[in-house]
This record gives sequence, structure tokens and C-alpha cells, in this order.
Amino acid sequence: MINIMMLRYNNYNWLSKFKKVITKRKELLIYRYRQSITNSNARLITFLNKKYINFSSNNYLGLSNHPHIISSYQNEIKVSGVSTSSSGHIIGYSIKHKMLEKKLANLLGYPNAILFNSGFDANQAIISTIISKNDCVIADRLTHASIISAVMQSPGTLKRFRHNDILSLAKILETTNKFDNRLIVTEGVFSMDGDQAPLQDIIIRAKATNSWVMIDDAHGFGIIGRNGIGSTYLSNYKPEILVITFSKAIGVNGAAILCKYKILADYLIQCARQLIYSTSLSIAQISAIDTAITIMQDSNYLRKRLRRNIQRFKSGIKKLKLQLIPSNTAIQSIIFNDTRHVINLVRKARKYGIWLNAIRPPTVPLFSSRIRVTITAMHRKHDIDNLLKLLSLF
Ligand SMILES: Cc1ncc(COP(=O)(O)O)c(C=O)c1O
Repeated sequence: MINIMMLRYNNYNWLSKFKKVITKRKELLIYRYRQSITNSNARLITFLNKKYINFSSNNYLGLSNHPHIISSYQNEIKVSGVSTSSSGHIIGYSIKHKMLEKKLANLLGYPNAILFNSGFDANQAIISTIISKNDCVIADRLTHASIISAVMQSPGTLKRFRHNDILSLAKILETTNKFDNRLIVTEGVFSMDGDQAPLQDIIIRAKATNSWVMIDDAHGFGIIGRNGIGSTYLSNYKPEILVITFSKAIGVNGAAILCKYKILADYLIQCARQLIYSTSLSIAQISAIDTAITIMQDSNYLRKRLRRNIQRFKSGIKKLKLQLIPSNTAIQSIIFNDTRHVINLVRKARKYGIWLNAIRPPTVPLFSSRIRVTITAMHRKHDIDNLLKLLSLF
């Protein structure tokens, strides 16, 4: 079996190591590249002067182009400029930052929220700040890279349970009671598979074993639950740590950590290096996020349109013999064992005016290369029908 980690960490001198890794990745068809697009929105993407229907965006509600959000941003730039020019611990924490933290805490029913520049930063911050040598993080196998890499760099122990498998989690809990603290980590909606975590069952196990729960709701916030407040609304429970991002359904950038205990928020403010040593979100971004959150709550009609589009895709794809991961969310992944097949599909899609991306290891487990289709509220019926027509050829 190919060890993907080996492809990254060999003990050659740097230049020959880089060359070996890159050559190997090309051989295995998992070489990563970026394409410089002209622009995109929740329905269309322009690349080399040609427009494509965009099925690769996390802009599920289309808010990144909402005129009110754009004008909040523009108006604030005129007043505050484009940067806070400092960390929040110096002069980068404004009244608007504070008000947004309060608004988020009230919305989600927590005593405290702390803003971060990105979801990646927020996940790194919480793990690297609280996990010590005799702590154990018990993470779902598909938990996001930002969490896993933070645990790997921490002095704590990482254990992983089979994806969404409560018995596997229970087994690990049985054997880890010697640790000082245990943190169970999962995602509300999984970023690559689109399925949802069994939060209620996880919480029961956590309570029974005196463990904490952290939920990364990057793909649930804005979409799931009443007025889009996220996956924890459905479970009717507040995990000790909730991470939300503004980079998906909210259509802006940035993130927040919601803390069930005020002292945890205080501790993060004292010790989280990602917070202390990084320039904060600009006030213009804060204004855009603030407006986006208000609009998100009033956007049941967009969530309804999104659900209709997801349903159209799912009922169409049922008739095709493809391996679709069961999911009721905007993320619909079709697995192909052969990476070459995925790459061919992406190429063919471009000819049909459809933009798809191949997701390959090590982003996803070996032999699970896939097309990760993301449906948005902005897609029209014929966009989805054209995608289904294309997929019927494979
Ligand atoms: C589950 C999950 N958590 C965190 C992140 C990181 O969020 P951001 O893009 O805001 O850094 C992502 C984005 O890829 C994600 O899918």
C-alpha cells in the first residue's frame, strides 16, 4: 500500500526531496495545481474567457455577491480603511469586533464568542492552546486537516474513530480513561462527504465519560436548523467548543469559536498565539460578516431553493449507476476507485461548460478519489439537469 505521508517526509536534502515528492505525485495522478480563474459566484465561474456552471463552490446561499453585504463592506472601507493594522491585543479589536462577538454568542446561545481570521486558524488555535501532554483528542476519521494537523503538532495524543461510528468511539473512550482530559471532535456536516455527525449519540457518550465535545460546523452554519443557525440546533445541545466559519454559507471570510465556559474564552485570549500574534479581521470584513449573518437568518427562501436543488440532483442521480455518498446536504460526493476516471470526468465536464473539481488523496482517503459536487441555491433547474446528463456518460 502507498504511504501518502512518506510522499511528504523523506530524509533527503531539501531540493532532492521536493523533486522526489513532486515526481511521485505526478506518477500517482495526485499532483495538486491551482487554476487562476477570472471570477466566480455561486452559479458561474469564468476561466480563460469562458463561462462554466460552477459546481465547486462553498457559497451555498450565494451570499458572497449579495448587494447589501457588498455595500456594508464598501461603506465601512470608506470610514475605517482596509486593515486594522494590528493584532486585537494591540489596537485591532474595535467596538464592531466586540459587537459581532456578542451577536454570535447570543445567536448561538453561548456566553462567549471569539473571532478568528479563518476557520483553519480557529481550529489550530483551540487545539494548540488547550491540549497538553496528558490530554487525548478523539477525532472522527474524516475530521478536517486543520484539526488533525494541530493535534499532531501538539504534545497530546490523537485517537481516531471510524467515521460516524459510535461503537468505534465508545471503544476508544473505554481505553482512554487514564488521560487527564478527553476532547471528542467531529464536524456538523462533513466537508468531503456531506453527511452529518450523530451529535446526539456523541454527546451521550461524552457526558457518560466526562469528555468534552468540539464541533466544527463550517458547513452546517447558515444551512442547517432554524434560520440556519447550524447543526447544534438540531441536536439541541451546546458542545463545550463550537467552531463556525464565515467562509462557506455566509459568503465572506473569517471564523469564530463559541465557548461554553467564560473561563475558556479568557484562556484563549491569554494564550492563543493565532489570536495574539496576527492582525485581526478588518472592520470592513466585520461589517460584511455582520450584515451577512442578519441576511442568513432571513434567508429561509434561499435554504428552500437549496433543498429543492439538492433534491433534484439526488433524484436524478439515483437513476445512474454511480457510487454517491449518502448525504442530504449541498455536498454530494461521487466516488471513483480510479483517479484517472475522475480526471477524465473533470476534463469532459469542461467541454460541456461545467466546472467540477477532482478531489484526490491525501485530501481524501486512498482509493476514494471523487467528484465533490456542491449544489447552491443559485443553480437553475437546467444547470442540474445538464450536470446529470454529463454524469450519465460515466
Ligand atoms: C470542516 C472545515 N473546517 C475548517 C475549514 C477552514 O475554514 P476556512 O476556509 O475559513 O479557513 C474548512 C474549509 O475548508 C472546513 O471544511
